[in-house]
Amino acid sequence: EAAEKGGFDTYMLKEIYEQPTALTNTLIGRLHDDTGEVNLDIGLDPQSFKRISIIACGTAYYAGLVGEYLIEQLARIPVEVDVASEYRYRNPLVSENTLAIVVSQSGETIDTLEALREAKKGGAKTLGVINAKGSSMTRELDDTLYIHAGPEIGVASTKAYTSMVGAFVMLALWLGRARGTLSDTQAKDLLHATRELPRLVEEALNPARVAEIKRVAEKYAQARDYLFLGRGVNAPTAFEGALKLKEISYIHAEGYAAGEMKHGPIALIDANLPVVVVATESHLLEKTISNVQEVRARSGKVIALLSDGDTENAQHADDVLYVPRAHEMVSPVVNAVALQLLSYFTASYLGKDVDKPRNLAKSVTVE
Ligand code: AGP
Repeated sequence: EAAEKGGFDTYMLKEIYEQPTALTNTLIGRLHDDTGEVNLDIGLDPQSFKRISIIACGTAYYAGLVGEYLIEQLARIPVEVDVASEYRYRNPLVSENTLAIVVSQSGETIDTLEALREAKKGGAKTLGVINAKGSSMTRELDDTLYIHAGPEIGVASTKAYTSMVGAFVMLALWLGRARGTLSDTQAKDLLHATRELPRLVEEALNPARVAEIKRVAEKYAQARDYLFLGRGVNAPTAFEGALKLKEISYIHAEGYAAGEMKHGPIALIDANLPVVVVATESHLLEKTISNVQEVRARSGKVIALLSDGDTENAQHADDVLYVPRAHEMVSPVVNAVALQLLSYFTASYLGKDVDKPRNLAKSVTVE
């Protein structure tokens, strides 16, 4: 087993560090810089549907929420995202004009598999964003976009998540190109930003950054609760950050769209509450910073994820985790890495078994 962990203490840490390679494998051969085209080897006709339903569970669901944002922005197609266990029982509205996209690392999650069957029954065309080759879902899907992240052993998903988001960036680009909502220049710009992802993630894992994340994790490891906030394409980054922390450290954590804070969670804020705010470069940054100030005004402890060089906003935070600058649309991939490490170091400091957290299975194949 030690050999399989490749010198790392845990599978989870190994998989966190595998992300530059996993992402390279997700993207390889699919992006064409010269033309701004994306080749995904998908047989589906991108003009043949009017709406998209994304269906998944857990971390894959959060990847789907990023997908919704990207597809609506770049391809202007209406998208809804559902938790599979809700979708499958709510008699969903499906027709031949629907594209159902299921997202799954294992390809075996029972609720997602049953939701896929439900969508097919209604006449939807189906596409999977899947990691495991030959898994049950792939045998029933019309088409599969493999993410090629490689085997993921740690129960807490890390590299599969960032590769799923990478796959959604390509999917949104492909749809946007095919449906004429993206100009050549926009497509080339985004394609370039996407290609940068493995390098940016490598940079996000440099030893100085990792040491700082470890310091911050240990500083707040005794907290009873945590709040994670983010906006726009990074709202799901906050949701996923909270899920990761609770899964492996057993600290109660909530993820919220930052603008929702004043509709409830603001009541939780006091000097004992660490609030992680994803405040990297974005057209909504100013709004997010005003949320940071609201947290500070109530004595909450702000841990801000800021883009490299943003010293101005650092003054509003108790602790800053700097992340490499990335195009807004691909920034969820880079930002997720810092939050994975924050959870990882919190849980290991508390002596938890990060690879096999209590009560959780790697894939939920029974109801
Ligand atoms: C992630 O950290 C989880 N353990 C869990 O939420 C997982 O993402 C979910 O069960 C879905 O699994 P799948 O991707 O294999 O379908």
